[in-house]
Amino acid sequence: MQKLIIKGRKEISGKISISGSKNATLPILAASILADQAQIKNIPLVKDIFTMIDLLNFIGLKTKLIRKKNIIEISSKGKNINTLAPYKLVKTMRAGILVLGSLLTKYKKAKVSLPGGCAIGTRPVDLHLFALKKMGAKIKIKNGYILAEAKNGLKGAKIRFPSISVGATENALLAAFKAKGKTVLTNCAIEPEIIDLIKFLNKLGAKIHLKGRSILISESKIKTSKISHEVIFDRIELGTYIIASTLLAKKNLIIDKINPKIIKSEIDVLKKIGVKIIQKKKSIIVKKGQRLKNINITTKPYPGIPTDLQAQLMVLLTQVNGVSKIKENIFENRFMHVPELRRMGAQITIKDKTAIIKGPTKLTGAEVMATDLRASVSLVLAGLIAENRTIINRIYHLDRGYEYLERKLRHCKAEIKRI
Ligand code: EPZ
Repeated sequence: MQKLIIKGRKEISGKISISGSKNATLPILAASILADQAQIKNIPLVKDIFTMIDLLNFIGLKTKLIRKKNIIEISSKGKNINTLAPYKLVKTMRAGILVLGSLLTKYKKAKVSLPGGCAIGTRPVDLHLFALKKMGAKIKIKNGYILAEAKNGLKGAKIRFPSISVGATENALLAAFKAKGKTVLTNCAIEPEIIDLIKFLNKLGAKIHLKGRSILISESKIKTSKISHEVIFDRIELGTYIIASTLLAKKNLIIDKINPKIIKSEIDVLKKIGVKIIQKKKSIIVKKGQRLKNINITTKPYPGIPTDLQAQLMVLLTQVNGVSKIKENIFENRFMHVPELRRMGAQITIKDKTAIIKGPTKLTGAEVMATDLRASVSLVLAGLIAENRTIINRIYHLDRGYEYLERKLRHCKAEIKRI
């Protein structure tokens, strides 16, 4: 089992380039089932992406990954497609459920493993199935699989989501692609990753318009030509490195290959805490940590503060003056990083769904264990500011979603190595 060893309190400086978004790439890979040929650029080379590519290969698509250019070429033309997403591939990468919408709308049937829960929650898919049933899909659950079919194809429908779900919105968008007639989705998730998926589907010939939290999908004129798409940057990775530079920057740290407008709410919160951020068109400069002050945060669907940044913000708040609170409103069990941070000296208590953080506290290095993707990166941040050495176990969680993490940090003079 690999580990990360971090020597804390090393000042960092220089430049960090942000990779493509894992959470934009995954639904776009699922959407590539709908294309004859697609070239997808700026994809992050992380475990979840490789698992999704394995799934596309299993289904029968032809994929060519050009690693050194972060490009993948995919073709579904003339392939005999197996409309099955097996448990072995979906259990480790829940977003595998997103092939359900694509397979159903294009091949009128699909057998997809229920993804099951993960460390942060039970992760149900009832909203995904609710939307597909509204479009006429016949759905049965048997032996841990979703058996879906739509003999005469899916039909457009008016669908109001009872609660906001990124994955369910994405599955409904994919299913609506070849549905007969118009589909109107309301109370949708509108994360930037969903906007990127809409851009990709419109390149494929879809006619999708977003208005507030409503999405209108009219009948698509499917293009058969090869399409090309560059995935947006990873706004969660960006938030993670802004926090790292606030905590450790010797002077300024430049972060590039981004569009600062997309993370307005994160930047607003960081500025409220006292982080100095200078925004340029495609980059930002984070000034050395200043007098930081406490704040109360609640995680919300976009454009609110993302739940995927909650653990990282918590580490920052252990270093600010005063008592801060973070309410986790999206997932039922997303505080697993707290016991590990406490072992490093953080003063955090949990009451219901709220973490109460007392700062500033000196963190000391310890041997800790990663539990889920974003919690594991919060331990890296803690290790970078803690005294002495921190050893992080189970870093396969990190490898699911952060491209070249040690390399990017070492490039900024952090002392971090993998053994
Ligand atoms: C996506 O997960 C992201 N994953 C998550 O990032 C992210 O934390 C989450 O959206 C929220 O922003 C990908 O994009 C691959 P949801 P998703 O459906 O789609 C409940 C990471 O670290 N719900 O918006 O699964 C659900 O339990 C990952 O990169 C239902 O009840 O999230 C949760 O409480 C972690 N029924 C809430 O809705 C459903 O059918 C939001 O979940 C679906 C979801």
